[in-house]
Amino acid sequence: MSEIKIDIKTTPFSDLSPEVEEALCREARACFPQFKERYRRRFYFESLPSAVFIARINDNIAGFRNLVERTCQINDSEIRIAGISLAVHSDYRGRGVATKLTEHMLDYVRNENYDIVMAFVINPIAVDILEKFGFRQVHLPIRFVDSETGVLSLIEDKTYVLDLKEGAFFEKLKDIEEIHVGKGVW
Ligand SMILES: CC(C)(COP(=O)(O)OP(=O)(O)OC[C@H]1O[C@@H](n2cnc3c(N)ncnc32)[C@H](O)[C@@H]1OP(=O)(O)O)[C@@H](O)C(=O)NCCC(=O)NCCS
Repeated sequence: MSEIKIDIKTTPFSDLSPEVEEALCREARACFPQFKERYRRRFYFESLPSAVFIARINDNIAGFRNLVERTCQINDSEIRIAGISLAVHSDYRGRGVATKLTEHMLDYVRNENYDIVMAFVINPIAVDILEKFGFRQVHLPIRFVDSETGVLSLIEDKTYVLDLKEGAFFEKLKDIEEIHVGKGVW
């Protein structure tokens, strides 16, 4: 099979045109039909992404990753988290789009000096991709404040983390019983 050209751009949320936003919403609804209502007017789950990585093939949107910035406090340290999500259009799956988006996102977070990258994962294929890039599952409870109800809630999905500071984050986990990632989920 001849190699296809996947073009990836990083765009701050505030620079997205309404047309691109609408196209991303459509894509989110198609990729996550269980959250169709949620994605009617937005392409991110709940929190505003600070950056969006969009993959195009022949000028068509083939997939995207959102990046939500968070911090969490572990003992005396503040950890800067890049929270990520992923969607690839069904016509373009199995061609390396998610892999390329992941490579691109990782270049970005390293340049921006994040401490960790965190993903809540519902698809086993996404687990395979993350593990290939060195992500490891976190087995501690992850809590957040539900922004609609204000209730302290538990993330139900598997959580994977890439430690960008040579194991410092996983070392800190030995001393704690849970992680709190603030208000809202991504
Ligand atoms: C999961 C998803 C992002 C994968 O995107 P993709 O662009 O097809 O992934 P890639 O082409 O980069 O493939 C990455 C790896 O997964 C494997 N893979 C892709 N689709 C697969 C499938 N249907 N079954 C098994 N393995 C698959 C590829 O073979 C590849 O492995 P390799 O690196 O060993 O060759 C895409 O299927 C998707 O958007 N699904 C719906 C939304 C979703 O589930 N998002 C993730 C939420 S956690």
